[in-house]
Amino acid sequence: MTARRLLLVNGPNLNMLGTRQPEIYGSTTLAQIEQRVAELAAESGFEVRAVQSNHEGALVDAIQAARQDCVGIIINPAAYSHTSVAIRDALSAAELPVVEVHLSNIHTREAFRHHSYVSAVAEVVIAGAGPAGYEYAVRYLAERKS
Ligand code: DQA
Repeated sequence: MTARRLLLVNGPNLNMLGTRQPEIYGSTTLAQIEQRVAELAAESGFEVRAVQSNHEGALVDAIQAARQDCVGIIINPAAYSHTSVAIRDALSAAELPVVEVHLSNIHTREAFRHHSYVSAVAEVVIAGAGPAGYEYAVRYLAERKS
């Protein structure tokens, strides 16, 4: 099935955006990010399914489901970026273009954030652009030749 739908996945603690360490993550809420992504995607004829979970298995389930009815995945795996082989394997199995987004530049932060298990299975990695990173991700997937 080739529905023009994107999966937007946000991992643990990103439900706290807006109040969580605003000096690092800014003051934009997750609801505002999800709304902006949906609006921008709609301009290019895409629907968006937005999922946020603090639970690794729920994120794996959402990624597995995307294989059925999505054409691309935008994911901020948050702390699971640095720990989760399960999320990486789910993304590989989905066989969809993946854009990995981080609000902060993980490479200028603590050493344990410098490695992401997800990056090797992402077509594009965007880090440090704040909420605009999600917009760049939508633009990339909308303009990508499938
Ligand atoms: C993050 C960076 C991660 O290291 C961190 O665990 C997060 C958010 C980001 O968007 O900058 O929760 O993915």
